Amino acid sequence: MIVYLNGEFLDAADARVSLFDGGYLYGDGLYETLRLYAGRPFDLEGHLHRLTRELGLLGYAWRPDPGSLRAIFQELARRNELGERDARARLTISRGGSPQQPLPVERVSELPATVSAWVEPIPAEIPRWQAEGIGVSIMKPPFARGNFPQLKTLNYLPALMALRFARAEGCEEAILTDRQGKLLEGVSSNLFVVRDGKLATPPSRLGLLAGRTRALVMEIAGAAGLVAQETGIERRDLLMAGEAFLSGSVKEIVPVVRAEGATIGDGRPGPVTRDLQARYGQAVRAALAAPASDPAAQ
Ligand SMILES: Cc1ncc(COP(=O)(O)O)c(C=O)c1O
Repeated sequence: MIVYLNGEFLDAADARVSLFDGGYLYGDGLYETLRLYAGRPFDLEGHLHRLTRELGLLGYAWRPDPGSLRAIFQELARRNELGERDARARLTISRGGSPQQPLPVERVSELPATVSAWVEPIPAEIPRWQAEGIGVSIMKPPFARGNFPQLKTLNYLPALMALRFARAEGCEEAILTDRQGKLLEGVSSNLFVVRDGKLATPPSRLGLLAGRTRALVMEIAGAAGLVAQETGIERRDLLMAGEAFLSGSVKEIVPVVRAEGATIGDGRPGPVTRDLQARYGQAVRAALAAPASDPAAQ
């Protein structure tokens, strides 16, 4: 596998990051995951907009250049023979670390950031999940995503542990909750439920990553005449929902048909979810077919 690291394309086995890198020592870093459609990044500008804001909040001097990153992802897709297929792309930025001072606390913005990227095939199970739906486990509060849940930082341990528990229970995703028992999001996805013909998703103020796909789903739903609201969702709301689904850049829209072993709706992907999946696909195709000046097409 060929990866990108600090300006070079390398075999993954030859790509080395310093022992003093802040990402390794403290989880001091940010990342983005997006989907390439036949080698072309979708919504790259949107992802980089989020990343730029987060880099500013964490005091990083490095800023992404959309043109260079688009070229890097396309080159990675080509070199890894993924130019004709859909792929998962990851960009990671971490605090570069200093060989002179292993644990720098001050002037960290002066350290050159470590910038890495790679692309890999879409996980084989995703098309099946999209077609058949998945089961989720609802986790207890300690598994929520740390103190800065609105940021896509490298601190993923609680969520990763939640996912391992969910998998051990035979579920594909874990739903994270806050201390009041409100549902927040999946480990790498946002949650939606359909109730009385309306779409609801947990409010971002509760502390979650308001995903790019979530925003697009809300927009598409609104354009289709479906009421889409940010509303508190509790465990029983999910269990009693007519339909539920998860959204994320790589998995797009995945129906949730089981929670805690109970069936949601009739246990099959519902009509609203199916319709949104189709509309999402159309929106992606339209954006990728649009002239290069359309940011979502990049
Ligand atoms: C915790 C969390 N929530 C939501 C999402 C979905 O975000 P997006 O739609 O931007 O991919 C992700 C994506 O990885 C995530 O890690």
